[in-house]
Amino acid sequence: MVVQENFSLKDYNTFGIDAKARFFVEIESINDLQEILSKDQYPRKILLGGGSNMLLTDDINALVIHVDLKGKQTISETSETIHLKVMAGENWHKVVLWTLEHGYGGLENMSLIPGNTGTAPVQNIGAYGVELKDVFHSCEAIRIADQELVSFTKEECKFGYRDSYFKNEGKEKYVITSVTFTLSKINHKLNTGYGAIEEELRKDAIANPSIKDISNAVIAIRKSKLPDPKELGNSGSFFKNPLVSKEFFESFSADNPNAPFYKVSDSIYKIPAGWLIEQCGFKGKRFGDAGVHSKQALVLVNYGNATGQDILNLSSRIIDEVQSKFNITISPEVNIIKNNPYN
Ligand code: EPU
Repeated sequence: MVVQENFSLKDYNTFGIDAKARFFVEIESINDLQEILSKDQYPRKILLGGGSNMLLTDDINALVIHVDLKGKQTISETSETIHLKVMAGENWHKVVLWTLEHGYGGLENMSLIPGNTGTAPVQNIGAYGVELKDVFHSCEAIRIADQELVSFTKEECKFGYRDSYFKNEGKEKYVITSVTFTLSKINHKLNTGYGAIEEELRKDAIANPSIKDISNAVIAIRKSKLPDPKELGNSGSFFKNPLVSKEFFESFSADNPNAPFYKVSDSIYKIPAGWLIEQCGFKGKRFGDAGVHSKQALVLVNYGNATGQDILNLSSRIIDEVQSKFNITISPEVNIIKNNPYN
């Protein structure tokens, strides 16, 4: 375990922001993680997984801990299901492909989501009709305060839309070290209801899709809409889709009859932030090296040398415009990391 100084995080965040960590360490074992967390000489510690859901707005005057724990293990299985434990540092999409190769169902709709397994529960990642919580069994984490290994059930994680205990009461208190999934071995529950998936399967004339066919369809859809972070820095959806009350929604949709929406419950509606942002004229616009993706307005991009502050300024401008045009407050989905996060 080597602690490096003034370490560039450019290759460790999918936005490709060239911010520096005052101290940086790569962690490959639970023991090393417990040891580094116990050290008082680094009062501020920031955790980094795949770096796919964060915006670094400044150099970080802290110890940045890159969790690189690797491995997969079968915890238990029957003829129908398997409990598979995956260590936090495993790349999410590679895990999805691995499960599909072994014939395990459940993760296929979440193909190609950037990031690592350990950060997936933090924001309850989701796409095309499935969320992490639908396949989540439990997770293990190190409690930062006393370096104890603890485990969390699904209920304890309090999953919500792009939300969990780890984003609220548990924020900055735990380092997730592994996630255990419940996956199907037979009788897979296919989720093809999402319009774009149906369309993609029809295009390929697939009437009885396998889990692999669904994954391929999702990969094709994502590639057509979402930029590859290796080619264009981005963090997926920068904003969450806002939730509004039924009353608000009724007057909104009377004014905007063409707006897409999802009914969440009898009293709550979700409006796609991408649509709102596009209506404000931002889609495909570029401001220096910061921009709004041309195929999905929910995604902010770094054309090369944008700073985190450039992206943050653009996001504030978008929030203000959406607020004044629609009276709807949109908020970031990504974690905005400031220099002194604990101050
Ligand atoms: N839309 C526009 N303009 C845009 C973007 C979207 O009009 O620029 C409209 C679309 O035409 C569609 C609706 O908005 O009617 C929804 O668009 P889409 O299906 O692309 O999904 P989304 O709601 O914009 C969410 C997730 C994505 C996920 C997709 C598919 C959030 C914040 N984002 O996007 O997640 O891939 O659904 O399930 O919930 C991510 O979190 O990083 C992410 C990419």
